Amino acid sequence: MGMDGRHVAVIGASSGIGLETARLLADRGARVTLGSRDRGRLDAAVKEIGGGTAIVVDGEDAASLRAFFGEAGPITDLVITMTRRGGGALAADLAEADLEGAFRGKTIAHLRAVALALPTLAPDASVTLVTAGSYSLPGTAPLAAANGALEAAIRPLAVELAPRRVNAVSPGVIETGWWDEVPADARQNAFKEFAQRVPVGRNGQPHDVAQAIIALIENGFVTGVVFPCDGGLRLT
Ligand SMILES: NC(=O)c1ccc[n+]([C@@H]2O[C@H](COP(=O)([O-])OP(=O)(O)OC[C@H]3O[C@@H](n4cnc5c(N)ncnc54)[C@H](OP(=O)(O)O)[C@@H]3O)[C@@H](O)[C@H]2O)c1
Repeated sequence: MGMDGRHVAVIGASSGIGLETARLLADRGARVTLGSRDRGRLDAAVKEIGGGTAIVVDGEDAASLRAFFGEAGPITDLVITMTRRGGGALAADLAEADLEGAFRGKTIAHLRAVALALPTLAPDASVTLVTAGSYSLPGTAPLAAANGALEAAIRPLAVELAPRRVNAVSPGVIETGWWDEVPADARQNAFKEFAQRVPVGRNGQPHDVAQAIIALIENGFVTGVVFPCDGGLRLT
């Protein structure tokens, strides 16, 4: 399936995986609408890609999502990569951790975005969410819970929204700005350790996940799946 004639909305498109996905989609001839909160970063993304329309949206705000889809108009494919950064906590700190924030910034934001897209989503549309693998890593319980809940919603959504297709890509460690919250030394150590641990011998790049998202958009016979794109991290 070519991307000519497709109009893809990417929410979370100003950096990392979303930005690379928007770039690949535009390269394949799709019309792309990029959404995220910061006007400056969005405009820079459109400039970098060399095309697309930027619409500011806060995915944690239902009114903002409604306005986004209203302005974007009819869309053939929806990709949601947005997330709050940070949010990890060790077990001993969970009582004080911002657990609601972990769900608001990911699970709830994605589910609301899907719901509010429906009036403008084509009958043959694809919806692709980006979740996160759960790897038994200390300190990641809030993120694993929020993303696991979102992954649990993929199958019922795929049945309910059929013949539209609903899938998710579940990345492992991807070297993006998401990790900027982690102090530089600890980040470099973590990247090194993960690269040694994963079977493919390296961490992921945004391009790896973007390619997986495109594959799910293009393959009209795949729905209701959570597709791991983690270099085999889940096997370790
Ligand atoms: N990087 C990894 O190792 C990794 C691993 C597993 C899963 N993932 C998942 O992959 C997805 C993309 O992550 P990434 O690494 O590309 O992160 P990123 O570089 O931080 O990108 C996140 C994007 O979401 C936007 N965003 C955040 N909150 C938003 C909101 N409320 N409304 C609208 N846009 C919002 C950000 O732009 P603004 O801040 O300008 O709004 C940015 O464009 C996330 O869902 C993440 O959980 C990443």
